[in-house]
Amino acid sequence: MRITINQIKEMKLKGEKITALTAYDYTTAKIVDEAGIPLILVGDTLGEVVLGYGSTIPVTMEDMLHHIKAVVRGAKRAMIIGDMPFMTYHVSVSDALKNAARFIQEGGAQAVKLEGGVIVADKVQRIVECGIPVMGHIGLTAQSINQLGGHKIQGKTPEAAARLIKDALALEKAGAFAIVLETVPAPLAALITKKVGIPTIGIGAGINCDGQILVVHDMLGSFTDFVPKHAKQYVKLADIMSSAVTEYHNEVKSGKFPTEAHSFPMDESVLAGLDK
Ligand code: KIV
Repeated sequence: MRITINQIKEMKLKGEKITALTAYDYTTAKIVDEAGIPLILVGDTLGEVVLGYGSTIPVTMEDMLHHIKAVVRGAKRAMIIGDMPFMTYHVSVSDALKNAARFIQEGGAQAVKLEGGVIVADKVQRIVECGIPVMGHIGLTAQSINQLGGHKIQGKTPEAAARLIKDALALEKAGAFAIVLETVPAPLAALITKKVGIPTIGIGAGINCDGQILVVHDMLGSFTDFVPKHAKQYVKLADIMSSAVTEYHNEVKSGKFPTEAHSFPMDESVLAGLDK
């Protein structure tokens, strides 16, 4: 049985921290799921850490569906949340609804995430009314990077902080089951967490959120183009991978690999009977 939104909401009530990670492929999803992480986001960071676009803007519905399906096959227990790509939910409520439904019906996800607060509340409400759980996302929203002017901390001025609080309350009212708070000052994230009844999941938002999410490539140290300040590297996988690949390269060149242990023998008599 997969984790449900009710279980996630209950965790906030019980004061139990919620963990979440991104995943984009079958193998990683399986590892994340087996470690007991209840929420897996197939993030549109796919565009950066998997597809190498340098931003999330070029990611399409088809890209996302391809990876959501792989993650759903890999994770048996976690709730899978599909991240709706740039401009797939802004133009109209009906677009938002159709695209969200594709993640559930075709992709096999259990929930969708979309960026924005007050501005997307009408879409969130309609998607939820149609039976699709929605995770909100406010603060540093990468799909608006050109408008925000870069990867900057959000909510630093009184006006910006008040706007974020309004956004969080609008998402809760619209029926979102949780809200990602990205790159906002820790005291503001703590205040929002106190003001809303649904779980806040922080990324660069301090310790007082109800849960935390990281991009799996950041916490495993496998993505090296840039390391965000909020990301703790639990291992430096890029270094480990690089030395393994170099060792393989050298061993093939020197004739050290493959050995007999990696080869398949043949009956001598069969070999003897073959034209030489
Ligand atoms: O796309 C993503 O991975 C995200 C996380 C940064 C929360 O939205």
